[in-house]
Amino acid sequence: MKNPTTSMVLPEDIPLNLKVNGQNYHLKLQPWVSLLDALREHLQLTGTKKGCDHGQCGACTVLVDGVRINSCLTMAVMKDGAEITTIEGVAALSDQELHPLQQAFINHDAFQCGYCTPGQICSAIGLFNEGKAETLAEVQELMSGNICRCGAYKHINSAIMEVKGGQEHA
Ligand code: FES
Ligand code: FES
Repeated sequence: MKNPTTSMVLPEDIPLNLKVNGQNYHLKLQPWVSLLDALREHLQLTGTKKGCDHGQCGACTVLVDGVRINSCLTMAVMKDGAEITTIEGVAALSDQELHPLQQAFINHDAFQCGYCTPGQICSAIGLFNEGKAETLAEVQELMSGNICRCGAYKHINSAIMEVKGGQEHA
């Protein structure tokens, strides 16, 4: 496609496959579309939130092949063939109606506006998968990329520690 103002030739859309929450999607996207925008704008999975869009708040955290990433900093085409879990799919990681972390967030009143919550929960599941954090201080350090503007950190930490006490891996 030609851009009439600059006469530059824009790259063609690129075909890719994403498996999101167990469902296969075949997409054709411009190479600069972030994974976050692919999820929200192309797949209408709006549970993943756009906060800063610059990798600074963690609101957009999803799991890619079990690893937590900031989806705003990741081009969708880089994840061709990947398995992605968003907040809409975390319950399916457990055999319960809600993922234990979702239930723990409710138990501990770990959200106010809820905007950061999907990213917090995905990030905490990724934290469990990493198998690193043992103490509260380590959990706080390794969750520090997830900002909560409401300041619900104390309750978020309580929810994470509750689940961490009950299971090593999500
Ligand atoms: S929206 Fe991705 S880190 Fe803030
Ligand atoms: S609950 Fe409002 S930003 Fe975290």
